[in-house]
Amino acid sequence: MQKKADYAEAIKTKYPEQIIIAVAKDKNGKANPVTIGWTMLASGEPPMLAIALTPKRYTTAAIRESKCFTVVYPSEDMTEFAMFFGTHSGRDCDKFAETGCKISPAERIDSVIIDDAVANFECILESEQAAGDHIIFVGKVIACHINTEPKGRLYSVAPGHKLGGVKKK
Ligand SMILES: Cc1cc2nc3c(=O)[nH]c(=O)nc-3n(C[C@H](O)[C@H](O)[C@H](O)COP(=O)(O)O)c2cc1C
Repeated sequence: MQKKADYAEAIKTKYPEQIIIAVAKDKNGKANPVTIGWTMLASGEPPMLAIALTPKRYTTAAIRESKCFTVVYPSEDMTEFAMFFGTHSGRDCDKFAETGCKISPAERIDSVIIDDAVANFECILESEQAAGDHIIFVGKVIACHINTEPKGRLYSVAPGHKLGGVKKK
């Protein structure tokens, strides 16, 4: 049975929501990570991933300038990094330098990968589409990396940016 609800109430049923960290270099070559909840697989062949960013994010300009970005699946133990990357702007600081999050150069794009993440996807910008108050960037995946250790992914588990792991059945 269903009952009528307004959007704000109904959308709270979405948890757990996957989160990713997108990384793009700015025009000075600084790699800037941003935490993103609104993301999806957009194509299987060729593989493409989509992320939604508001126009005011520093990362939005960085992706438009560099025309590429990394999509990172953070691990359960990366809560502090994900919260820092999602509450500070690259306009004001160097997020990787300030947190000490370990990174390596990406192989095929001018970006970086995060060493301790579950997985990293190197994407070249395929398209962007305005969608209300966000812009959807679609990236074609041209290289992937997975952790050699088994690690669980990090999710948004409740409203208010509460992050945590999700038990597998
Ligand atoms: C868990 C979480 C999820 C977020 N999801 C999004 C999102 O989907 N899109 C977005 O534009 N901002 C999202 N944000 C906010 C940005 O990460 C935040 O504004 C960040 O500081 C922007 O960094 P930048 O200015 O360096 O790009 C999220 C933040 C958190 C903590």
